[in-house]
Amino acid sequence: MQIRLTAVLAAAALGLGACSSEPAADNQVQAPTAGAERMVASVLLTPDARDVHSYAVPAEARVTHVSLDLEADFAAKVMRGSATLDVLAAEGAQQVILDTRDLNIASVTNTAGQPLQWQMGEARDALHGAPLMVQLNGAKQIKVNYASAPGAAALQWLSPEQTADKRQPFLFSQGQAILNRTWIPTQDSPGIRQTWDARIVVPDGITATMSGEGNVVNGGAARGEPAGEGKRAFAFRMDKPVAPYLIAIAAGDIAFKPTGPRSGVWAEPSQLERVANEFSETEAMIKAAEGLYGPYEWGRYDVLVLPPSFPFGGMENPLLTFATPTVVAGDKSLTSLVAHELAHSWSGNLVTNATWNDFWLNEGFTSYFENRIMETIYGRERAAMEADLAWTSMQESIADVGGLESADTQLQLNLGAERDPDEGMTQVAYDKGATFLRTIERAVGRERFDAYLKGYFARHAFQPMTSAGFLADIRQHLFADDPQTAQTIGLDAWVYQPGLPANAVHIQSPAFPAVDAAAKTFAAGGQAAAIPNWGTTWEMVRFLDQLPREMTADQLAALDQRFSLNAAGNSEIRFAWLKLALANQYAPATRSAEQFLTSMGRRKFVQPLFQILMEQGSWGQTLATRIYRTARPGYHSVTTGTVDPIVGYQAGSV
Ligand code: BES
Ligand code: ZN
Repeated sequence: MQIRLTAVLAAAALGLGACSSEPAADNQVQAPTAGAERMVASVLLTPDARDVHSYAVPAEARVTHVSLDLEADFAAKVMRGSATLDVLAAEGAQQVILDTRDLNIASVTNTAGQPLQWQMGEARDALHGAPLMVQLNGAKQIKVNYASAPGAAALQWLSPEQTADKRQPFLFSQGQAILNRTWIPTQDSPGIRQTWDARIVVPDGITATMSGEGNVVNGGAARGEPAGEGKRAFAFRMDKPVAPYLIAIAAGDIAFKPTGPRSGVWAEPSQLERVANEFSETEAMIKAAEGLYGPYEWGRYDVLVLPPSFPFGGMENPLLTFATPTVVAGDKSLTSLVAHELAHSWSGNLVTNATWNDFWLNEGFTSYFENRIMETIYGRERAAMEADLAWTSMQESIADVGGLESADTQLQLNLGAERDPDEGMTQVAYDKGATFLRTIERAVGRERFDAYLKGYFARHAFQPMTSAGFLADIRQHLFADDPQTAQTIGLDAWVYQPGLPANAVHIQSPAFPAVDAAAKTFAAGGQAAAIPNWGTTWEMVRFLDQLPREMTADQLAALDQRFSLNAAGNSEIRFAWLKLALANQYAPATRSAEQFLTSMGRRKFVQPLFQILMEQGSWGQTLATRIYRTARPGYHSVTTGTVDPIVGYQAGSV
């Protein structure tokens, strides 16, 4: 480890490109050679690594370290304090450009406290925010005094009533893709890696956690230290350069429980036991992942289960995965989420997409890797079911983005600056990406492919990666002696062309033909009593998803009676059921839908259900409007941002 870190540092110091195959050496910003205490990662300056979603000009000046000193003001819903940034500037560079969105900047100084000139540029649009241009005047560190806005898009401030235990308010952040600029004034681009540290002040009774070191001290939750009347300060650090979207915070009435020597769970106290139980296999997963692709580089791996408004299934914040409570099913049936977020510790957090155009390098690799971990822990049957469901999901997502011809089915995207990266970052990246890697695996054999991937992560650890960089790397390290196989696979077509190549490997679950047959029989008028009692969540989900979208009320009632679907505690089963029931305007499901949609804010569930309701004429639209009015105040901006246009919500309209 130590040796490799030094090597990365040296590469940066010499101005070598992060990707040896790309000629970036002569236009690199020079990193300090001697006495550098902090690890400085290199940046890529090739055209395909240019990030249209950031105002930063890293070739002139880039941020290498962020030091936050912030107080969380729960009453005002504001983070207030300062960010001190280490800036690495090219010779002659006058200014550094930061990304901001809705920040209130009080002043910018050098570390001696002398004011530096700054200017907020024109905002391109609401999404990107505005560039903050600071005249360096020779400064190598600048201090930005600022506060976030009460509506900062990355942050959600929950009242005590919106938490499980209802004792304390709760704060959490979601940085990916370009939201962290709403609470941290830095260069918010995945290719500009930064180390960071933070001092976070919160009211007594609240525990702060972040995506770095400092959460767990001597095997227990860090307690912080007194920081004035009724307040405590928590300290965190991240000594390895990470993409800035990976800086995350959560603070509330949360407790910690170990699940292994280097793993544990965080949750509200009333949830802690259940959560620890659900994720008891975490250490086994870490070992499985290490067995595949090399050592876990980050130290601890903990999972924080957030209040139900968390908009994603999970988020791979380093050392501290953020997770939705909707995966705590009680029977470990949805733990692939942990495998997925853990896998990002390699694909995504060690080797990171240089821009959001290369999102598939994060999510496609991770989905493939996730499934390999699942296979190791739970066996081939479960892994095959999950891979087969992902195949179906891939077909659906290709259709959703406009079919096989659509440019959004390419792995490498061409997102324009005018496009919300969120929009192009679809399920295609996950499922087509994973299918591509399975196709390579099938062609070269698992052993060779695993050895290659292990080397890929080691060669590019703590560096950004582009699609071209990956293709160059795999040609050099896997196909150097075997260009014919590379040719047969059609690497470039997979990455740069729309659609799905004919050689795509489809993993088929041996359990599903029976499920599909049962769905057919039932749809054709069969008895609900004749449906087998599916042994797994995924068989039940597959069964429901295979049913034709048009069913009679009697059929739906029989299903509900047989499987208690309106009351399903498993979120994936409930979701699969509600999609079907609402598409049929099945009135007995409305209460279940309302309960589900007002009790969690996970976008993957919320968006399709509102979409289906809105497609049901006035029956569904009335219902959607009523439910959204109650549910919306509880959702994170990521979810409202997607659902508002679906439901036709404008401030004051619903
Ligand atoms: N990094 C993603 C979540 C994400 C993607 C946030 C794009 C913002 C923009 C995370 O790793 C993820 O993929 N989560 C999935 C769960 C997973 C098991 C497929 C999710 O939230 O559904
Ligand atoms: Zn992911």
